[in-house]
Amino acid sequence: MSYLRKAVERLAAYVPGEQPRIPNIVKLNTNENPYPPSPRVLEAIQAVTTDELRRYPDPNCTALCQKLAELHGVREHCVFVGNGSDEVLALCTRAFVEHGGTIGYFDTTYSLYPVLADIQESARLPVELGPEFAWCMPANYRASLFFLANPNAPTGMRFPDEEVAEFCARFSGVVVIDEAYVDFADADCMALARTRENVLVARTLSKSYSLAGLRLGYAVGAPVLIDALYKIKDSYNVSAFSQRVGLAAVTDIETMRANTARVKATRERVRAALLTQGHRVWPSQANFLWMQPAGNEAKEVFEGLRRQGIVVRHFPGPKTGMCLRITVGTEIEMDRFLDGLRIAVGGKAMA
Ligand SMILES: Cc1ncc(COP(=O)(O)O)c(C=O)c1O
Repeated sequence: MSYLRKAVERLAAYVPGEQPRIPNIVKLNTNENPYPPSPRVLEAIQAVTTDELRRYPDPNCTALCQKLAELHGVREHCVFVGNGSDEVLALCTRAFVEHGGTIGYFDTTYSLYPVLADIQESARLPVELGPEFAWCMPANYRASLFFLANPNAPTGMRFPDEEVAEFCARFSGVVVIDEAYVDFADADCMALARTRENVLVARTLSKSYSLAGLRLGYAVGAPVLIDALYKIKDSYNVSAFSQRVGLAAVTDIETMRANTARVKATRERVRAALLTQGHRVWPSQANFLWMQPAGNEAKEVFEGLRRQGIVVRHFPGPKTGMCLRITVGTEIEMDRFLDGLRIAVGGKAMA
C-alpha cells in the first residue's frame, strides 16, 4: 500500500543544476549572474530589524508591488510577487487549469514546465519547435495554459514578436510568457501583459538582479489573472527579508543594467571565439550560450570540462543531448572556459 498520490509516486521530479561546493571551480551551469547585486542590497540586509522578523510579513508585498508596477507602467494590482518565478509558474497551473485540463509548452524549453503539468495531473501538450529551435505553432493548437519561455531556455533565442502577439491573440487559454532572461535581450513582451486579458509576463530577480539565492519572482498582467494568484497563494509566500531586500534591488536598476551590459558584451565575445573555433553556437538573447561542440560528443566535452573544474550544463535526450549550455560568467571565467574547451575537444575543433 502507498500513502502517496499516484501522480506523486510516478512523478519524475525536476532536476535542478547542481551546486557543487568545490573551491576554485568555474561554475557555468545554472545561469547565475557572475556580478554582485546592487550595494543597496547589502545595506537593506544590514537594516533588517528583529522586529521585522518577529512579525509576519506584509502578505501582499505592497511596497515591492508598487515599485514593480511603477517600473513596468502598470497599476499596482497588476503585479503579483512570489517566492521565485518558479512559485509563480506553479501557482499559474493551479489557478488557470481545470482538472482534466492541458498544459502546453515548446519542446525544447525550460524543463520545469512538464513537471508542473505532471504535479497538477494535467495532460502535457508539447509543441515541436521548428528547425534550429525556431518558432513553430500549429494554427489549431489549443490548451488551457501555455508556458512560453522568451528568450527560450536552454537555447537563449527570442521568438519573433509578431508570432508571439498573433499566438496570444488567438489562443483560447492563458499564455504565461516567462521572461526570466529578458534583461539580457533587446526587447520584451510586457506590452502584451498590459493589453491582453489572457497574458501574464513572469519575471525573476534571480538572473539580471544577481539574487538567485533570495528567491523572488513576479508576474504582471490583467487584474483578473493576478487576483486569481492572490486567492490561492500561501498567506505569507514572501518573507519580510526578501521583500525588503528585493525592494532595494529594484530601486537600483542602474546596477542591474550595468551588470547585464557586461554579461552581454562577454556573451558576444565568447560566441565569436567559439564560432572561430568551429563550434556551432546559436545567437543568444540570454545570459548563456547554447553550443554544439565540433568534432566531439557533448557529453564527453562536458566531462572533459568537469575534470578541469569547469561545470557547464548538459541535458541528455534526443533534442538536447548534442549541445551544451554555458552560462556567461566573468571575463576571466570565460577565458578559463575557452582554454578548457580547447583541451576537452582535444584539437578536434579548428582553433
Ligand atoms: C526559463 C526559466 N524560468 C524560470 C526560472 C526560475 O527562476 P526563479 O529563480 O525565479 O525561480 C528559470 C531558472 O533557471 C528559467 O530558466
